[in-house]
Amino acid sequence: MTLAMADAHVDVSGSLKGKPGPILLLGAPGAGKGTQAKDLAAKWGIPQISTGDLLRYNRDHGTPLGLKAKQIMDEGKLVPDDLVNEMVAERLKQPDTESGYILDGYPRTLGQAKWLDEHVGADAGVLAVIAVSIQVGYNELLRRITGRRICPVCGTIYNIYLQPPKVDEKCDLDGTPLVRRSDDTEEVFRERMRTYDSQTAPAVEHYRAQGRFEAVDGSKPVNAVAAEVEAAVARLRGSGTEKTEKQQS
Ligand code: AP5
Repeated sequence: MTLAMADAHVDVSGSLKGKPGPILLLGAPGAGKGTQAKDLAAKWGIPQISTGDLLRYNRDHGTPLGLKAKQIMDEGKLVPDDLVNEMVAERLKQPDTESGYILDGYPRTLGQAKWLDEHVGADAGVLAVIAVSIQVGYNELLRRITGRRICPVCGTIYNIYLQPPKVDEKCDLDGTPLVRRSDDTEEVFRERMRTYDSQTAPAVEHYRAQGRFEAVDGSKPVNAVAAEVEAAVARLRGSGTEKTEKQQS
């Protein structure tokens, strides 16, 4: 993988100039990772790489990976690290990642975080990954998950309580009937939250301990959260933590 990153600069107003390099969007189920990643990826001109979307693609197409992942996803548990890391490694080989990318929902374990540091750190001159966690309270997360609807054609995300489509259950952009994810039930949500607390929290701590982490308040309106994520990225890119420990040594 060759990742010739364009420099990311921060101006006095705190906004980001240039390509932002690899960015992780972390957060509990329903925190708004996908919503923010789509908007920011479009704004910055870099791809959104969602491990959840990649796994759902594999599941829906019946690939060997998808067959292994299906039941695990339906139960709200995590797909094993080696399978997910291999999938991410394949995706990062594509040339659209050369100026940076947003990883949405990855890494989710300490093992994935360490693998990613090694993988990205292997390329000289690459900006270190930085992590922004979107934080939302439990009851709001539950409402977001149970109310979420998705356009199966264009991927636009709606919420019947919070961001409803103009016409009930139809996509505003192409009129396609909206769908609900099979793991968006209250029961599976509770298991996903347990999984998040037990397995993803250590990955978050990994970035926090290295000063490559900021948390933002995800309970605000979408545009306000986007502004907070952008400001956090600008601070992290301007904070002198651009290189991984491996690169600095
Ligand atoms: P994944 O698809 O990653 O699910 P998740 O992490 O549980 O996150 P969600 O996609 O549910 O939520 P989100 O934070 O993206 O929220 P969204 O923007 O949609 O993973 C699914 C499964 O795949 C996992 O359980 C696991 O089995 C497997 N998997 C994936 N990655 C893996 C990995 N790395 N390792 C192992 N296994 C892995 O928003 C939610 C709702 O809220 C929407 O309706 C939206 O309209 C609304 N909303 C968003 N922001 C706001 C706002 N600011 N105000 C009001 N409403 C809002």
